[in-house]
Amino acid sequence: MKKFYITTPIYYASGNLHIGHLYTTTIAWAFKNYKKLMGYDVRFLTGSDEHGQKIEQKAKEHNLEPQVFVDSVVDKFKQMWLDFDIDYDFFSRTSNPKHKKLVQEIFSHFLKQGYIYKGNYEGWYSIQDEEFLTETQAVKKDGKLYHPSSNHELTKVSEESYFFKMNDFSDWLKDYIKNNHNFLFPKKIENEMLFNFINKGLEDLSITRTNINWGIKINEDTKHTLYVWLDALCNYITMLDFDINNPTSSELFNDFWNDENTEVVHILGKEISRFHMIYWPIFLKALNIKQPTRIQSHGWIITPEGKMSKSKGNIIDPYNLISKYHPEMIKYFFVSQFPLGDDLVFDENRFIDVINSDLVNNFGNLVSRVLKMILQNFKKSLKYQKTTDTNNQEIELEIKKSMQLFTNYFNDFKVDLAFNVAIELGNKLNKYIDITKPWTLTNELDKLEQILVRLLNGIYAFACYLQILLPNKIKEVAKVLKINNFTFSEIQNFNKFDNLLPEGQYLFFNRIKK
Ligand code: MSP
Repeated sequence: MKKFYITTPIYYASGNLHIGHLYTTTIAWAFKNYKKLMGYDVRFLTGSDEHGQKIEQKAKEHNLEPQVFVDSVVDKFKQMWLDFDIDYDFFSRTSNPKHKKLVQEIFSHFLKQGYIYKGNYEGWYSIQDEEFLTETQAVKKDGKLYHPSSNHELTKVSEESYFFKMNDFSDWLKDYIKNNHNFLFPKKIENEMLFNFINKGLEDLSITRTNINWGIKINEDTKHTLYVWLDALCNYITMLDFDINNPTSSELFNDFWNDENTEVVHILGKEISRFHMIYWPIFLKALNIKQPTRIQSHGWIITPEGKMSKSKGNIIDPYNLISKYHPEMIKYFFVSQFPLGDDLVFDENRFIDVINSDLVNNFGNLVSRVLKMILQNFKKSLKYQKTTDTNNQEIELEIKKSMQLFTNYFNDFKVDLAFNVAIELGNKLNKYIDITKPWTLTNELDKLEQILVRLLNGIYAFACYLQILLPNKIKEVAKVLKINNFTFSEIQNFNKFDNLLPEGQYLFFNRIKK
């Protein structure tokens, strides 16, 4: 069985999650669902990034010990995934003792291998982004320095630090990227990585901080805590029990990372591309383990008023959305409407239009119309037969073709185009009804039967695609159609309804009123 491992970033346990985090997690979850349907053995990781100065400060603001504080935040994360019906296999926490131990050993290994040296860090740091910056990277305003993309204020840091020799790996990484076109996506971010960082020669990276208590202390020098990004990135392998002192000892790691047939995919927002596309591959190279198959960044959710920020007051709370809409509507909207990599505007008006058009009208009405016609005209199941009618033949072809197109796009991470194929199939099925006018055929039941059974097969394919994003609602449809589940391999078999008489009535979703 082929294996697939997909991850989201582990989110800072510093506050509530917003729809940006929901967006990333939904994308990864959709791929998890898709690959499962394609027969892969799948593992899906999400989690929380719990160390560092920002979280230490937040805990203090709440008058809580950091561990108590992050525990309460993590409870909320898990509740949110439950409320959105996002199921995962691993919830990775960087404060878990196993992770801490394995990362300490990774640090020791790097030190022993000579990839690390001790020095002094003199420069700037963004606590909010947990990112080191040089003065030239920063934006200057009123005598202060700010992060160039997040605009967070930078603080001056001058402390002893261990450095990782990133620059020793610049040429290796450049070649690896050149020889592996399916590694970094989207291409505009790959170019940014190459031209802004890698081609210029990488700077060695400070990977420990002093004066920070809330972090993983290194065994060799306990006043140093690990830089949160080294700590956090390693979660992707420590959750699989990767042990540098015994690299082949973990079955999970062997199966879901190391096996040459295993596909490993990281999904993340564009602002953390540098960490995932430069530092992470280099750390893996230094650990002498396989690279992920694909590192895919995506754009930001912005609102019609621009980027979400506390100061603008335009942060969209996912709970506000599920108080009004079914969570599967929201997940459908996120994945089906936007190319991965582009920024997307979350506009509630557009959201309502899309749901009404795709799910209420296109799919929902199709299902209820077809079931009603079956109920009104047949007491027994409909048997598929080949016919010479060109409309019948054309729609069969469209149904079959849609599967190839849908899977090609999905395999290529073009999720918006994949769902467009599903919607186009729905349009064609609705048009087929308009052309064949089944309501005029109540005295020609043989003809009517052949039309309706094709429509049932079309609905089957459409539902098969939609179940990736709407698994609960599509389970209801399966029940109504009296089938166990929707599988890709059955799409081409038009006889599957031969012995089934679907229920007569079903309403998928009510129209959303504006
Ligand atoms: N803890 C690090 C990640 C470590 S992974 C080894 C981190 N956490 S975070 O809480 O800041 O989450 C960042 C992620 O949240 C982004 O990569 C993205 O997935 C998501 N988003 C946050 N804001 C977003 C938008 N406005 N739009 C889309 N996604 C955004 O960085």
